[in-house]
Amino acid sequence: MSSAAEAPVVQTRRDGDVLVVSINNPPVNALGQAVRAGLLAAIEQADTDAGARAVLIVGEGKAFIAGADIREFGKTPQPPSLPEVCNRIEASNKLVVASIHGAALGGGLEVALSAHYRVALPAAKLGLPEVSLGLLPGAGGTQRAPRLMGVKAAADLMLSGKHLSAKAAQAAGLVDKLAEGEDPVATGLAYVQELLAQGAKPRRTRDIEIADKPAALAELDALAAETAKKSRGLFSPLKIVECVRAAVELPFDQGLAQERASFMECLASPQRAGLIHAFFAERETAKIPEAKAAQPRHFSRIAVIGGGTMGAGITVSALDAGLTVTMIERDAESIARGQANVEKVYNGLIAKGRMTEEAKAAIMARYTPSTSYDDIRDVDLVIEAVFEDIEVKKAVFKELDRVCKRGAVLATNTSYLDIDAIAAATSRPQDVIGLHFFSPANIMKLLEIVVPAKVAPDVVTTAFELAKKMKKVPVRAGVCDGFIGNRILAVYKQAADYIMEDGASPYEIDEAVRGFGYPMGPFQVTDLAGGDIGWATRKRRAATRDPKARYVEIADRICERGWFGQKTGRGFYLYPQGARVGQPDPEVLAIVDAERAKKGITPRKFTADEIMRRYMAAMVNEGAKVLEEGIALRPLDIDVTFLSGYGFPRFRGGPMKWADMTGLPKVLADIREFAKEDALFWKPAPLLEKLVAEGRDFDSLNKSAA
Ligand code: 3HC
Ligand code: NAI
Repeated sequence: MSSAAEAPVVQTRRDGDVLVVSINNPPVNALGQAVRAGLLAAIEQADTDAGARAVLIVGEGKAFIAGADIREFGKTPQPPSLPEVCNRIEASNKLVVASIHGAALGGGLEVALSAHYRVALPAAKLGLPEVSLGLLPGAGGTQRAPRLMGVKAAADLMLSGKHLSAKAAQAAGLVDKLAEGEDPVATGLAYVQELLAQGAKPRRTRDIEIADKPAALAELDALAAETAKKSRGLFSPLKIVECVRAAVELPFDQGLAQERASFMECLASPQRAGLIHAFFAERETAKIPEAKAAQPRHFSRIAVIGGGTMGAGITVSALDAGLTVTMIERDAESIARGQANVEKVYNGLIAKGRMTEEAKAAIMARYTPSTSYDDIRDVDLVIEAVFEDIEVKKAVFKELDRVCKRGAVLATNTSYLDIDAIAAATSRPQDVIGLHFFSPANIMKLLEIVVPAKVAPDVVTTAFELAKKMKKVPVRAGVCDGFIGNRILAVYKQAADYIMEDGASPYEIDEAVRGFGYPMGPFQVTDLAGGDIGWATRKRRAATRDPKARYVEIADRICERGWFGQKTGRGFYLYPQGARVGQPDPEVLAIVDAERAKKGITPRKFTADEIMRRYMAAMVNEGAKVLEEGIALRPLDIDVTFLSGYGFPRFRGGPMKWADMTGLPKVLADIREFAKEDALFWKPAPLLEKLVAEGRDFDSLNKSAA
């Protein structure tokens, strides 16, 4: 941002008869108030400068302009508005050219579309990704893009939020010329001179007539129906379609007015607040205490121990990140299966036409299968993914301690086990860390980086570097049973079990959870993951369970019948003939009834709202405890965990953001009300009580930790 002492964020200089307007607002040239004002002033200067025949707009640094300054949303808007700036650029009586060498996104692309001509360099990426922030293009994008690239293609660009390469943007009609090189100024100046030599005049996108309007409207009808189905409660996608319709049906200025009104509606929506929270939170999680002091260790060759579900997925992730991987398994048969698990992923891509045999061969050349630990003496980093059994893991780590070179990072993918104890099995606990991937590990974005007591800071930063290479979303977590995600999951899953035993069917609970925005409910997830996994954990914990705590046995009754979910054809649901979508099972309802009767529970009705109040209160209360114990650094780390690893609806920003938006006093009041039934389970987290007493929210902790 500019201050009196700093250079202005928009600078102008004459290069012959061209006024070069360059934007310099690091890191991404976002269109904050100072940039908007600077751009407006620059165009006014150009229009009154008799010696200037043309204007060239460029961005300094990596980006052209990455869009509106998202940090300004939610605050009182400061003039000039971006639509005003864009209209003024388009109205200029000088030839205006945008030279795009990096991100031209959202408002950044809208600035470019207001220019009269556009040239793009190879690293340019163009898009209107506002939808992923709960918004729509609000500075003429919904009106200008359809005029330049056609109605359907423009709507698709806005609804998908995808970025186009320079080449694709030119093919789509958004860009007039492609150029080689990296320097937007030299390229832009050359293009301006070329245009001037041709006698080019200002050419305004607003004046383009949309061709074949009836066909365009028919396409939009189909798109509206499809969007209503696909957007699952999201507000802005349908508004985008309506605005594009306005581009077809209304004169340009009326279309702009409709776009503005819709943009302001989106801006005011809680979905916008949730999605923008998610955007920043995902960028904050990599900011950890260790980052300043400790440089990551070098790594290029890694080992993965275990080639089962997780080991294979982790191997694919590592290979895709350009690393060299040796996979270790117990015996010849297991390693053959491990390799087959890895190849299956690439064969799937080949079958879909998304990978060639040659590309697969090039990747697999970096993969070595082995049954001998001696083959991993030289690796820089090891990720263990063997059975979830502390004794097996300790034995593996003893072996790693014996063979691995000094300074190698030794990581475990355990879901629940005590990593301090695993580290203690080695003579080098400073090198041992948790890397908790999620299944399928080559697809899921979340990586919990679990930090045991004795680990060295540079091992932590190495883990974050690995996450970056693998394009994962890393979250720093402390050691406890289940870390951040699975620990909180266990508690709200328990709340769901109580609701079920007290009267709601698993199907009603799943429906309420889907209605909140999750893709699946908790019982569907159990069936997908396999009921036996949770059953094994419950058995493991049985000895340490508080005998006073309420325990629901319904899932155990189901597992005792061998009903482990999709893989066995039935679980909480029935999956006839390998169906992937389950059907309610009357026999499961009978089991539920029998369990209620056994405990003398008279079932009562639950509305979807009450189900969600309990489900969310349990999640938030445990989240507060996780924070208090320092297992999560900040509330936003919990939010990101649930957004990236547990299907939490992104438009709600995560559980802690949801709590803030709902109001902490209301959440606490719910917990206190539920505590009248079960004071042990619903014990309010002291941190939640403290925040309510002080009139603060979770977000205040995000800020103070930053
Ligand atoms: N406003 C404010 N800050 C932004 C920003 C924006 N539009 N875009 C990125 N930043 C910040 C990030 O928060 C980050 O800050 P930090 O260093 O303090 O954490 C920094 O810029 C760098 O961002 P990334 O870490 O994401 O850098 P990358 O190089 O990985 O990615 C990018 C760059 C592709 C531009 C990516 O940041 C991005 O996708 N940004 C958002 C683009 C976007 O959604 N634009 C539309 C905005 S809405 C709009 O324009 C409305 C209009 O229609 C009226
Ligand atoms: P899995 O049973 O599919 O695979 C385990 C593999 O380890 C098997 O192939 C087995 O042959 C191999 N193995 C066992 N002992 C070994 C040894 N001493 N040396 C070499 N290989 C050995 O199990 P899965 O699901 O892949 O889980 C592995 C780990 O990942 C566990 O700790 C689990 O808790 C964790 N995890 C699992 C998730 C899941 O959704 N499946 C998610 C996140 C973590």
